[in-house]
Amino acid sequence: MPTASHERSLDSGAVKSRPVPDHVPPEMVRDFSLFTSPGMLPTANGDPHAAVACVHAGPPIFYSTSNTRDGRGTWVITRASDQRRVLQDTETFSSHRSIFASVLGESWPMIPLELDPPFHGVFRSLLNPLLSPKRVMALEPAVRERAIKLIDRIAASGTSCDIMKDFAVPFAVNIFLRFIGLSDDGLETFVGWARDLLHGDKEQRPPAARAIVAFIDELATERRKEPVDDFMTFIVKAKVEGRLLSDEEVRGIGVLVFVAGLDTVSAAICFDLAHLARNPKDQELLRSEPDRIAVAAEELLRAYSTIQMIRVATKDVDFKGAPIRKGDYVSCATMIANRDPAEFECPNEIDLAREDNRHAAFGYGPHRCLGSHLARREIVIGLEEWLARIPAFRIKTGTEPITFGGHVFGIENLILDWS
Ligand code: HEM
Repeated sequence: MPTASHERSLDSGAVKSRPVPDHVPPEMVRDFSLFTSPGMLPTANGDPHAAVACVHAGPPIFYSTSNTRDGRGTWVITRASDQRRVLQDTETFSSHRSIFASVLGESWPMIPLELDPPFHGVFRSLLNPLLSPKRVMALEPAVRERAIKLIDRIAASGTSCDIMKDFAVPFAVNIFLRFIGLSDDGLETFVGWARDLLHGDKEQRPPAARAIVAFIDELATERRKEPVDDFMTFIVKAKVEGRLLSDEEVRGIGVLVFVAGLDTVSAAICFDLAHLARNPKDQELLRSEPDRIAVAAEELLRAYSTIQMIRVATKDVDFKGAPIRKGDYVSCATMIANRDPAEFECPNEIDLAREDNRHAAFGYGPHRCLGSHLARREIVIGLEEWLARIPAFRIKTGTEPITFGGHVFGIENLILDWS
């Protein structure tokens, strides 16, 4: 999420830059940070994606002195083709970190995200079938039912709502509960944990992380005692390399499945609805021709990508003239790759009918998003049901959506109005 993928949720504290390491040539240092550059700090009506796209005027790799939430420096790979090289070369660029566990002062990995091959592949093969297109198809009626329930409630309660709070987060949490086989009775509790983890301060995040871990551990214990036909039973009964999974491995998988689909899906839905609110023609097009929504969602995933992936160099390597040294962090930001003019024609134009859209929103290589089929269906179904039930909408006069950068880009205070 180390990737970075789902890291914003887990870091805390202010960003402080560290000194430039001796091996980094001064001419390779640039004043750039996904956290603190203009447009990255919470900004009313900001456009962080356009702000990062500016890096394409510069070199293919440079050094940023502060490019993680805790202020670590990273090499920044700007070209999509170079990012693919890094993400594919897991021997040189490792995913081995413990982002979630470190919030609790511990060091177990989220699985499979923070494992490297070959062990990564063992877990990936185990989990692949659980999120296959066929499995997602089976989940689809429940995803749609939950979208409809939430949107109908919003429609019944007035002519405006806060998208993150009223729709995007409860929707994503709901699908997580459905995916692991629980009813939505505990929805409010989970939404509270998700809120504290994603948007809480230094004091709120550790208790939320602890509560999630306790929940996963408890569910695993229950399913070991009384197996049923669900996700957690599958995990506690599964074998890798001829043995049952350890408690820590079960926890590493459970936590990742919870964290991975939260701020990612909710941010995508928010950016998509913000785009449609600001572009009434696009909104009208998708409303009148809903068959276009699936293709449009791909373009919106490209243009409003949210994840910065981080890798750690396992050895010294020269990369396009950059002296990367063992232990250095290397950033592959999807929001940068997806605005690469060498990869996409007019990358800063949003064309909802763009063809052959091979974007990097879900990453690349062995860690490519395991939940991409589910995520895609959540986004498409969310948009379909929203447009079918809510009349022409815009950003509520007098309110301003707040965008922010970071490991996971996002948007808050998106108040839509259809009065
Ligand atoms: C729009 C929504 C989403 C986006 C943009 C997204 C993006 C990503 C990216 C970029 C990665 C690669 C991370 C890396 O290489 O370091 C990743 C990995 C992963 N994602 Fe997603 N994700 C989304 C939704 C989901 C959902 C709904 C799930 C469901 C549980 C999920 C589960 C995972 C898992 C398990 C991994 C780790 C895969 C591995 O390490 O082999 N994601 N995601």
